[in-house]
Amino acid sequence: MAELEVLTDAAVLIEDGRIASVGRYGDVRRETGNVKRGVEVVEVQGVLFPGFVDCHTHAVFGGPRLDDHERRALGLDYRAIAAAGGGILESVRDVRSRPEPELEALARARLATLLHHGSTTIEVKSGYGLDLETECKQLRVIRALGSAQPATLVPTFLGAHEIPPEFRERRAEYVRLVCEEFIPVVARERLSVACDVFCEPGVFTTAEARAVLTAARRAGLAVKLHADEFAAAGGAELAVELGALSADHLAAVSDAGIRALGGSATVAVLLPATMLFLGAGRQAPARRLLEAGAALALATDFNPGSSPTVSLPLVMALGVSQLGLRHAEAVVAVTVNGAAAVGLAGERGQIAAGFAADLVLCSVTDWRELAYWIGANLVTAVWTAGSACLRSSAPVSLGLNVKA
Ligand code: NIG
Ligand code: FE
Repeated sequence: MAELEVLTDAAVLIEDGRIASVGRYGDVRRETGNVKRGVEVVEVQGVLFPGFVDCHTHAVFGGPRLDDHERRALGLDYRAIAAAGGGILESVRDVRSRPEPELEALARARLATLLHHGSTTIEVKSGYGLDLETECKQLRVIRALGSAQPATLVPTFLGAHEIPPEFRERRAEYVRLVCEEFIPVVARERLSVACDVFCEPGVFTTAEARAVLTAARRAGLAVKLHADEFAAAGGAELAVELGALSADHLAAVSDAGIRALGGSATVAVLLPATMLFLGAGRQAPARRLLEAGAALALATDFNPGSSPTVSLPLVMALGVSQLGLRHAEAVVAVTVNGAAAVGLAGERGQIAAGFAADLVLCSVTDWRELAYWIGANLVTAVWTAGSACLRSSAPVSLGLNVKA
């Protein structure tokens, strides 16, 4: 993960939405000399990255949870916040009551903001419905926006995000409902490609997560897991055992969990903005995961409760300063490995022949600046499938890219 190939005076040849070749400008120019029809040349200045892959978001929600934020600042914990009417269930009430077009308009605006921060592929989870109708409403919003805006969206079913209030005394029944009724519908209607579970003491147990993800695999869905965020409960080991695409959070992962991830193809998705926003005072053991041989990805976890950030470059900066990643590792974590975490390793996250022409131009002179100017949006242009979807008129100037 610490090795990047960085080209200077480079060019990217795009054909039919895909990258046809990449190399030194002169070489690519010679190659295009052989192309019969006209080639449109777009000259850019700065550093061109593969479009970022935000592999963990909860981007379909209603209002922000400002009261949670304030209560947490005043020292209330997760349970006290939930008891005061906040937490995930506040967003569930909100999403259940909002009409689908309104949710779609909110999600559209938020996804546009993620795209403006360089995310061209975005995984989006349901999980604020917790009943079949509302989970499907969220997934339909993702599907509609998948073809109505420029970023590629990867929908994930997260019906097991929390026990809904009406099943508080009958949790086994809710798990059965998710397995036997929700998953078959979601899979049959192709509303999601993957299934996730919030596996955490006090939310869903490892046994419940196993039941849900086993049902999901049977229905042909890929699986993922919110694992070991606050307490080690065997989430990482379960993810590996089930061949999950990713195990996410991992701030409390055990030594056994680290070993399991290290010997597997399951991507460890770390979410440092979440730990920072929650004021948790700790972070996932990124270096130990790397030393064990795990593939790391970074994501925003964009959601109204624990991580209201839209910026993967901010998360990269946190990767370096909070997780001890090298700049190159942070770049790989939001490109190649982010793509692997959503099952798209073969087509996203690299500027290489055959890959989707999703590109992000940043107003920097050294690629490491992206994970350095913490909090600034340095993205000045974005292309998805070869089409320009953003071009900033006023490039940011923070480094040496200022003309005297
Ligand atoms: O990934 N950990 C569980 N789910 C979200 C939080 C969602 C919320 O608070 O609304 C997360 O952090
Ligand atoms: Fe999450």
